[in-house]
Amino acid sequence: MQPNAPTLLEVRAVSKGYDGRTVLERVTFAIGRGEIVSLVGPSGCGKSTLLRAIAGLDRDFDGEILLDGVPQRGPSARVGVIFQEPRLLPWLNVGHNVAFSARPQRGTDPRVAELLGEVGLAGLEKTLPKQLSGGMAQRVALARGLFPRPDLLLLDEPFSAVDAITRTRLQDLLLSLTRAHGTAALLVTHDLDEALYLSDRVLLLAPSGRNGAGCLARDVEIAAPRPRDRRDASLARVRDELLSGIGAALPAA
Ligand SMILES: Nc1ncnc2c1ncn2[C@@H]1O[C@H](COP(=O)(O)OP(=O)(O)OP(=O)(O)O)[C@@H](O)[C@H]1O
Ligand SMILES: [Mg+2]
Repeated sequence: MQPNAPTLLEVRAVSKGYDGRTVLERVTFAIGRGEIVSLVGPSGCGKSTLLRAIAGLDRDFDGEILLDGVPQRGPSARVGVIFQEPRLLPWLNVGHNVAFSARPQRGTDPRVAELLGEVGLAGLEKTLPKQLSGGMAQRVALARGLFPRPDLLLLDEPFSAVDAITRTRLQDLLLSLTRAHGTAALLVTHDLDEALYLSDRVLLLAPSGRNGAGCLARDVEIAAPRPRDRRDASLARVRDELLSGIGAALPAA
């Protein structure tokens, strides 16, 4: 964890199985307030499963998940979730989608216009989701995720469905939004360069537990100063370290 950042999230010895098969084994880590942490690891090692448990969407696991020291027992307005696809409600306009969590006054809250301005979509309150590009829709999803003023955003491969240029713009947007709102983020990504560019720390989940269950294999701090240069040599060194960590944890191809 970053020095001086008070602890926000604690994941303590979380294990999870499906149909008698363990897919996560005693995963333990903490995230400080405002910290940006990426979670990387090979497909199937339990990243989305872990995110669902932290989001309170799945309560059937062993171990403990605490927010500010309080065990979490289900979904909370303090934890926002953003998925790979924007999941906007097609029959609601952009404004109502952003304010969805604030029913019944949704859409009229002045924070809707404020957040839409912050994500570069000022004035699009009345637009319907079908009129948006994929990148615009994901911006709306970011605004919706921030609307309840969460302390923690959980993002599961949030930019993997957009083109490379839109992706770098959305990465910068995520950085500026989390900094402006003091929101911590836990981001699942398959893109190591994205993890290195965005994160204060990178967690590597690897299938090194019993029968390939996901275990925390590395917890690497990224000390490179911000704003970061994506070609920074120190990032390339951490990239090599993570790749060798992934290689060591995988069975030979
Ligand atoms: N609802 C479910 N029922 C049974 N098994 C499941 C279920 N959801 C996930 N699994 C299994 O749990 C393991 C971890 O899945 P998970 O989706 O968390 O992996 P992941 O790391 O997010 O993978 P990817 O990078 O491909 O998204 C996989 O073996 C998967 O088949
Ligand atoms: Mg996944």
